[in-house]
Amino acid sequence: MAQRADIERYRENWQDEVDSTAEYRAMSESESDPKIAKVYSNLARMEEAHIAFWEDRLRTAGEMVRPRRPSWRSRVVAWIARRLGPDAVLSTIAAKEAADRNVYVKQPETSGTRMSAKEQWHTRVLGQLLRTQPRGLSGRQFFSASGPNGRAKFANRDFGRELPITFRKVVFSATTHLQMRPLVRAIQ
Ligand SMILES: [Fe+2]
Repeated sequence: MAQRADIERYRENWQDEVDSTAEYRAMSESESDPKIAKVYSNLARMEEAHIAFWEDRLRTAGEMVRPRRPSWRSRVVAWIARRLGPDAVLSTIAAKEAADRNVYVKQPETSGTRMSAKEQWHTRVLGQLLRTQPRGLSGRQFFSASGPNGRAKFANRDFGRELPITFRKVVFSATTHLQMRPLVRAIQ
């Protein structure tokens, strides 16, 4: 039987997945390169499957599942992505994914699933996008180190750690193909 703390954790996971989905959808819809747009929509699809996973856990525990509504912070990120393009939020999103990449490792409900592996893969894909997108912008990161369950949280201040972002152009050539594998897989 799930305890109160478990239910809270399910809800926190659920909200985070709802937020991620909304952000990736906004990034996909505002991305002009169809291949990169596909990467974002694939990420959104995977996060949607994670929403459904936590909805199942909540229902099994006899809890009500609220309508899927992104947090206000996530709505701001999505708004910026739609107005300024996905590159304006890419470093912020990548930082959050990196901070959260192991969030499911110690959550017993996800053992036997590929959820942890997928979250870690998202981090690699976004890291590669950051390194290879010639239009990449150096965005501030609006996350504090972690929330109650180890999840990264937005904060209204610059946390002071910016990902190293380079502005070099990378040609998708045979020599870079091996390093690009996660990104190539995400496009397919
Ligand atoms: Fe996820």
